[in-house]
Amino acid sequence: MFHNIPQAIQKQMESLEEIDTRDRQDGTPLVKRLRQVTPETGRLLAFLAAGAAKGAWLEIGTSAGYSALWLSLAARQRSAKLITFELLPDKIKLAKDTFKKAAVEDVVELIHGDARGHVRDYAEVGFCFLDAEREMHLDFFQLISPNLVPGGLLVMDGAVKYAEMLQPVIDAASDDPGLDSVVITADRGLLVCRKA
Ligand SMILES: C[S@@+](CC[C@H](N)C(=O)[O-])C[C@H]1O[C@@H](n2cnc3c(N)ncnc32)[C@H](O)[C@@H]1O
Repeated sequence: MFHNIPQAIQKQMESLEEIDTRDRQDGTPLVKRLRQVTPETGRLLAFLAAGAAKGAWLEIGTSAGYSALWLSLAARQRSAKLITFELLPDKIKLAKDTFKKAAVEDVVELIHGDARGHVRDYAEVGFCFLDAEREMHLDFFQLISPNLVPGGLLVMDGAVKYAEMLQPVIDAASDDPGLDSVVITADRGLLVCRKA
C-alpha cells in the first residue's frame, strides 16, 4: 500500500502538504485553511482502514481531500469505496480537483452537504474517520457508533490536542460497553473505537 503510491497521488499529497504548511504560518483565516491531518496521521488512517471489517467507509470532513487520498490507498487495496462529506463549496471545489488529478474518483465519492443529514443512511459502517468541527463530534459519534459492524472502526482526530473539548466523546466511547477504545498519542492524538 505504501510501497507503490501512484505518482499522481503523491504529487497531490505534496502539493496539499505545502499549502497546509503555508496556511498555518501566514495567518490564513481558519475557514480558508485546509486544516488537514499530518502525513504521519494519514498513514495511520490508511493502515487502520486497511484492516477494518467489511461495511461502508465514511469520512466526515473532506477539506481539500488530503486524508481521503491516504484512505484511497487502503480503499483500492480492499476494493472498498470511501464516501467523504464536505459542507463548504470552496472546499468541495478543491477536493474535486484533488480527486480528479490524483485519479481516485473510482474509489472516493464526494458528497456535498452537512453530513449530519446523511450518516443515518449508512446502517453498516466498517470504517469512519470523523474530522469535522469539534463541537459536532459528540453528535456524529452518537449517530455513527451504533451503526458500526462488529470489528468496525471509528477514528477521530484531535483527541490529545483538543482533549478538553473532545472529552465528552472520549468518555462516551469508553463508557460504551459495545466498544473498545484507545487514544493514540501520535500527532494531535487519535481516538480509535472498535465495535466488539
Ligand atoms: C479539519 S477539516 C478536514 C480535513 C481533512 N479530513 C484532511 O485531513 O484532509 C474539517 C472539514 O470539515 C468540514 N465540515 C465541518 N462540518 C461539517 C459537516 N457537518 N458536514 C460536512 N463537512 C463538514 C469543514 O468545512 C472542513 O472543511
